[in-house]
Amino acid sequence: MLSIDPLTKPPDIDLELPGSKSITNRALILAALADGTSTLQGALFAEDTLAMVDCLRGLGVGIECDESNNKIVISGCGGDLNPNGKPLWVRQSGTTARFIMPLAALARTEILIDGDLQIRKRPQQELFDALEKLGVEATFQGEQGHLPVVINGADLHVEDLQVKAEQSSQYVSALLLSAPCMAEDMTLVVDGEIVSKPYLQMTLTMMRSFGADVEEVDQNHFRIRATGYKAQDYKVEADASTASYFFAAAALSGGRVKVKGLSQFSIQGDIGFVDLLEEMGAEVNRSEEYVEVCGISTLRGINAMMKSISDTAPTLAVVAPWADTPTSISGIGFIAHKESDRVTAVVTELRKLGIEVGNHGDGFTIKPGSIKSGLVHTYDDHRIAMAFTVLGLISGGIVLDNSECVSKTVPDFFEYVDRLRLDGDEELDILAIDGPAGSGKTSLAKRISSEIGLEYLDTGAMYRSVAAVVIKEEVDPLNKDLVVAIANKVKISFVGEEVFVDGENLTEVIRSSEVNAVVSHVAANPGVRAVLRRKQRSWARERGGGVLEGRDIGTVVFPRAKLKVYVTAAPEERARRRSLESGRSMEEILEDITGRDQIDSSRVDSPLSVSSDALVVDSTGKTINDVVEEILGSFNA
Ligand code: CDP
Repeated sequence: MLSIDPLTKPPDIDLELPGSKSITNRALILAALADGTSTLQGALFAEDTLAMVDCLRGLGVGIECDESNNKIVISGCGGDLNPNGKPLWVRQSGTTARFIMPLAALARTEILIDGDLQIRKRPQQELFDALEKLGVEATFQGEQGHLPVVINGADLHVEDLQVKAEQSSQYVSALLLSAPCMAEDMTLVVDGEIVSKPYLQMTLTMMRSFGADVEEVDQNHFRIRATGYKAQDYKVEADASTASYFFAAAALSGGRVKVKGLSQFSIQGDIGFVDLLEEMGAEVNRSEEYVEVCGISTLRGINAMMKSISDTAPTLAVVAPWADTPTSISGIGFIAHKESDRVTAVVTELRKLGIEVGNHGDGFTIKPGSIKSGLVHTYDDHRIAMAFTVLGLISGGIVLDNSECVSKTVPDFFEYVDRLRLDGDEELDILAIDGPAGSGKTSLAKRISSEIGLEYLDTGAMYRSVAAVVIKEEVDPLNKDLVVAIANKVKISFVGEEVFVDGENLTEVIRSSEVNAVVSHVAANPGVRAVLRRKQRSWARERGGGVLEGRDIGTVVFPRAKLKVYVTAAPEERARRRSLESGRSMEEILEDITGRDQIDSSRVDSPLSVSSDALVVDSTGKTINDVVEEILGSFNA
């Protein structure tokens, strides 16, 4: 469960958001099929794109991921796939499931394709019908027309195709993407209406960027030459669907959010979401390098046809209650078949929060109203979770039952949300005390907290508590996912000097040598840090401030703290103090603290470092009174 802290001040911010999922997954397919080595810059690293990377590797494509630089290097196979015989696991990713199927057929051998329960439920029949016409055998292992399926392209041949795209344009995109690697030129006609048409345009534009020859003979009629693809260095745009949540937050709060790496000429249809905000009265500034939204005091309701930008329908739905007239969203009946039944999800959850919503199957009509606090069910759907987070930013008391589902497309979503809160955090009374192990931060923080009447938080005790549970549950401290799951579920509370973990008093345990030995490994896990940072920020926001001590409080948790202090002391002095406190030998303690300092300072995520605007206090040879006085002097200045 995640309680959303409301904004205390309208944001005024420039954001660099992660790359587009749709572009990254298309570019991966194109680069995999191309002749030569391609590089993707600004690629998205999330569940859905990692699913694609895994599947392409399973088909014999060499891929190197450099996550810290958002870069992926792909050694293209020139259309000549070499599967490793293992099943392809698409996780929950719709684009991966659909795009990989025609590609698997190109391998001309049996390949099992499967994924999580959620994707098994999603329909794919129209794509299988088309593949069958091309001579591909599909053997369903469960329900007809659904994953898991064994694809066998041994008899793959070219036929002129007619495909339906009433449920998803991804079927057409999937067939188009693989078509240039077929033995002969191919013709494809889309039968009937196309939903999410901009995604089809994105596919065509990107195919051409990788050297394909696709002719639009007339509307919905394509001729694709069997030319293959050429490798490219490709820059992925920021994700326009992800940007919608931040634009909505700006529009509702009266703030300003500029998203860089997006342009008015974006190949992503969802950039059209800002046109709807503009129609509601928000100010939108567009350029070739960014798109910016500024909110105004009152928005007006609109009639929005969102067939082509349906991923952002939940976002508009959470904006609508604040408009002064009803908003009607139509053309989106088909989103009942996305990660969740999004029509029902939006209607049910808004009604729960006291909003009058009419469900007309093809969409919904939302009346203006005031939001009640409450628990929002996310249906394990990232877009429902992200949209209702926006609602929680504006209206207090919103809790999500499951927030982890955002990692499907934006693992760091809540970190970006926290950037919107930065201006508000400036108003808090935060004293941040950072420093290496045993530098005396805890004693200092306690003393100062009682002197200035602000509560104090020992963030190290939070990392220690997670480490204690990791040990208790016999989980490997280096197993990133399991340790993050523990951080997510563990309940840590402080009662006076005592620390309770899931209701058990672990005050002594968390200071044990077993915990000392693993805590820095647990703390180097970015997922754990994200979870605990969120808890630390909420703790301080609820109280209007506090004295927080740790390793990254001034550098990462509260970069706009009122005062940042970095306290240090010579290692021998730190070991001597700890030895006096605990009765353990100097040697043992020195080994522990220098070992932890080394890991804490060298980790990739928020390493222990001195903020350039911190007050640096070397406490070697000083009494605690001297140091307290020095810090209080600066805090009150
Ligand atoms: O008391 P001591 O200074 O030895 O350590 P602590 O403050 O209890 O922190 C224990 C461990 O938690 C540190 O060695 C870090 O690995 C981690 N930690 C962190 O990474 N970030 C924080 N804000 C606080 C602690």
